[in-house]
Amino acid sequence: MLAPGDKSISHRTLLFGALGTTAMAVRNLAPGADVRSTAACLRALGVSIVSAEGTAATVVRGVGPGGFRSPSVPLDCGNSGTTMRLLLGLVAGARVACTLDGDASLRGRPMRRVLAPLRAMGARMEGQGGPEDERAPLQVEPVQTLVGMAHRLPIASAQVKSALVLAGLAADGETRVREPEPSRDHTERMLAAWGAPVRVEQGEVVATRLLRPLSLPEGLEVPGDPSSAAFWVGAGLLVPGASVVVRSVDVNPTRTGFLAVLSRMGARVELEPEAGRAGDPVATLRVRGGQALRGTEIRPGEVPSLLDEIPLLAIIASQASGETRVTGARELRVKESDRLRHLVLGLRAMGADIDELDDGFVLRGPTALRAAPIDAAHDHRIAMSFAIAGLLAEGQTEVEGAEWADISYPGFFAALERAAPGALG
Ligand code: S3P
Repeated sequence: MLAPGDKSISHRTLLFGALGTTAMAVRNLAPGADVRSTAACLRALGVSIVSAEGTAATVVRGVGPGGFRSPSVPLDCGNSGTTMRLLLGLVAGARVACTLDGDASLRGRPMRRVLAPLRAMGARMEGQGGPEDERAPLQVEPVQTLVGMAHRLPIASAQVKSALVLAGLAADGETRVREPEPSRDHTERMLAAWGAPVRVEQGEVVATRLLRPLSLPEGLEVPGDPSSAAFWVGAGLLVPGASVVVRSVDVNPTRTGFLAVLSRMGARVELEPEAGRAGDPVATLRVRGGQALRGTEIRPGEVPSLLDEIPLLAIIASQASGETRVTGARELRVKESDRLRHLVLGLRAMGADIDELDDGFVLRGPTALRAAPIDAAHDHRIAMSFAIAGLLAEGQTEVEGAEWADISYPGFFAALERAAPGALG
C-alpha cells in the first residue's frame, strides 16, 4: 500500500513555497480537504498554485516575503487547525488585512494560544468570545513590523511553534520558541533547508527576519503520511493472517512514537529504509497479523510524537492483554472533536473495558469487540480508527460520518475494501 502524502509537510510546502518566488513542482501532495483549504487561502493572498498539465505535480509559485495582497473574501480554513494557525503566523507581519474563518468544528477550537503570543510581538488580530476564549472568525489588521521575543509554550504544539517562527521571519530581532517537549519539527527543518534564518539552539527554535525570498527546490516529493500509514499498520497487526506492506512512509523521529509504543507492546513492525524525501528519512513498513500484544503505559513526554495516533492506539490496546494507560493527552479534547470522549464512548459501546481520565484513559484488554453504531463526531481520525475496530468486531459496525475520512485520506475506504474485500459489508 501507499499512504497519501504527509499532511503536515504538504501544508508547509505550500505555505513556505509562498515565501519564495520561483516555481516548485510538488509531487504526492496530501490529497485531503485540509491541504486544499491551505491552497485556497494562499491563492486568495496572491500565490499561484496549479496542477501541472499532464503530470501529477502541483506547481507553487510564491510572492516572496512581503508580497501578499489583502484578500477580498474571508480566508476559509475549512476543518483545518494547521491552516488557520500557520496562516496567522504568515499574515501577522505581512501588512495585510484579512479574516480567517472555518467550519463549525474549527470555530470551536482554541485560537488564543496563537493570537496572544502574536499580539505580544505587535500583531493586530482578534477573535470572538473575549480574551479568555478566542475563537474564529478572526480579524487581522496590517501592522508595519513585528518585534521578536522569546516564547515559552505551556503545551507542546507544532502549530503554535510554527506560527511563531513564521511571524519571526517578519520581525525585528530574534524570535525564540521553547516547548516543554519536542513536537514535530517539519517547520524548522524545511525553513532552514530552504535558506530561511531559522536554527535550533539547545532545543529552542530561533528565527530572524527573512530578507530575501526562500531558495526553493525545483521539485519536491512529499513522503507518505505516517499518521495515515498507521491505520494499515494497525489493521495488519490485528487481523489474523494479514500481511501488510506500506511503502514510502515518513519516519521522522518526531512522528514515530506510534511505532515505539507498538514495539513496547510486543509488536514486530519491520522498517526497511528507502531514499529520504523532503529532508526526512523514509521507510517501507511491514507487519504481519495475529501477533500477541501486551498493554503499555504512554507517558506525557511521548504524547507529542504520537498525538494523532492515540485513537488508533486505543483500538489496538483493546486487543492487547493487560492494562494500557495514557496520560498527558488532554490536547486530544481540542482536536477536530473531543477525541478522548469519542474514543471512550465508541470503544465502550463495542464492549471494551475503558475508563476516561481527564487527560487520557485506562483500558484493560483483551476484549472481543462487538459491532455497535459509532459516531465519527465529524472527525476523520475517529472515523478511520473505528473502521479498523469494525474489521475485528463480530457483526456489522456502522460509522456515522465515515465520509469525514476525506479530510486527510480520501480513498481510505476504497483502499480498505481492496485490502480486505467484503470488509465494508
Ligand atoms: C500538526 C500538529 C499537531 C497535529 C495536527 C497537525 C501540524 O497539532 O495534531 O494534526 O501539522 O503542525 P499540535 O499543534 O497540537 O502539535
